[in-house]
Amino acid sequence: MHPVAAGGGVEDEDDERRRQSKLEEALEIKSLRRIISAYLNYPEASEEDVRRYERSFRMLPPAHKALLSHYPLKFQRLRRCISVNSYFIFNILQAFEPPLDLSQDIDVCDGPHLENVPNNHNVSGVNNVCSSRSTCASKRLHTSNSDQACYEEGSNTVHSPPIVTTNKEVDNSGHRESITDGHTSGVECIRETHNCCGNDSNGDVSSPSRTWLDPSLQLHVPLVDVDKVRCIVRNIVRDWAAEGQKERDQCYKPILEELDALFADRSKKSPPACLVPGAGLGRLALEISCLGFISQGNEFSYYMMICSNFILNHCQTAGEWTIYPWIHSNCNSLSDSDQLRPVTVPDIHPASAGITEGFSMCGGDFVEVYNDPNQVGVWDAVVTCFFIDTAHNIIEYIEIISRILKDGGVWINLGPLLYHFADVYGQDEMSVELSLEDVRRVALHYGFHFEKESTVETTYTTNPRSMMQNRYYAAFWTMRKRSATMEHQPPLTERNS
Ligand SMILES: C[S@@+](CC[C@H](N)C(=O)[O-])C[C@H]1O[C@@H](n2cnc3c(N)ncnc32)[C@H](O)[C@@H]1O
Repeated sequence: MHPVAAGGGVEDEDDERRRQSKLEEALEIKSLRRIISAYLNYPEASEEDVRRYERSFRMLPPAHKALLSHYPLKFQRLRRCISVNSYFIFNILQAFEPPLDLSQDIDVCDGPHLENVPNNHNVSGVNNVCSSRSTCASKRLHTSNSDQACYEEGSNTVHSPPIVTTNKEVDNSGHRESITDGHTSGVECIRETHNCCGNDSNGDVSSPSRTWLDPSLQLHVPLVDVDKVRCIVRNIVRDWAAEGQKERDQCYKPILEELDALFADRSKKSPPACLVPGAGLGRLALEISCLGFISQGNEFSYYMMICSNFILNHCQTAGEWTIYPWIHSNCNSLSDSDQLRPVTVPDIHPASAGITEGFSMCGGDFVEVYNDPNQVGVWDAVVTCFFIDTAHNIIEYIEIISRILKDGGVWINLGPLLYHFADVYGQDEMSVELSLEDVRRVALHYGFHFEKESTVETTYTTNPRSMMQNRYYAAFWTMRKRSATMEHQPPLTERNS
């Protein structure tokens, strides 16, 4: 090895860091463009489906066709529904404020560095667990191979968006530090943004901040990306439609009742703080806020964040929008009118729901955001709903949940163990898939004791009128963090590096 002058070494390291950071930003822009393109491709991809139905219809012998004489009308109605959905989706996009300049020329990244970057862009993100842990810089860029919008399918087949870690939310209680690397997320606290957002959402794509909506920048994306947009539409029903009430009663209500009972003496002056990792479209986090908690949702999918930003910050009234969430499947339909039925959203007006000061959504990978030393012992409660099986390493999730809870804090969980990185064929994804029994054992190790445990039968983003209803027998528990033992352990990053 050649000796290197000390100064030169530092410069080299700085150069390397700058190069890495630039590469990460470029990848992030690329991924975000792809996600936006997935949203923008929704109308065309859906129209293509209808064309396919029409082609099949035309292939029928005349006698069979005659039996389905209402079909041309159904196709027309489908097209109308698609255009209503597309209008809604376009409004979602208009309300989004990208945390990065998407009009940047990122050709630089299509050079040799990117050639080796697979579609899932796992450069410094969560896929490479070791490298992402050992560098704080990786907080700013997250890519993952799995986007859990389509939970029902356990879909792991395509890459998900990178996520900008940010929490520009206020520290109302004096115990929460911002976790930010300078980017701002599209999703913000309702109260903070209510007056400052939407100024530009007038549909003018030529306005400087909306140039990224220009059709010329739209990429052609694989259909599987557009499917994620359709999954988001189903998630909207789960979280923000009257039709989702039954699922919310099954999943969110037990959690809310448990929080309400456990923090019966909570005061308005100093509300308890509750974190909701994997918050999806934000309804549970909002309900927790309305219960009188300082509530923070954490979410790493741009697909989700783009949509929750719209609902939380930009919807003006309950029932403002109509969508047709069920049009994309002809299977298991009892009738065409079931398939083509409208759903209005949101069922409540989020900004008038009665949130507690300090409600926020924090974009970023749970592991990277909350493994930060200033998160130790911060939270009175952590609530995970259909989340813990999104981990590459569930032990790491449990360890972090334990570390960020105050002594005596509670972890309420409801969900199955449908590990998202299990069965990712052809990809070497880390996935540690524990049984419930082992999850319990690991939790005990990290200082938890069980207060309650039961099973909840539920669905996830299921069409309530479908002939197929996938059911989960989800684990529901309340655990309490026993002592300060975990606080004396260094964070994972230090131990693993
Ligand atoms: C199955 S969904 C559940 C959403 C919501 N909790 C619900 O019950 O509807 C899991 C959510 O966790 C998010 N997620 C997965 N891994 C994450 C991570 N490492 N950090 C933050 N969010 C994550 C996904 O994007 C997805 O929105």
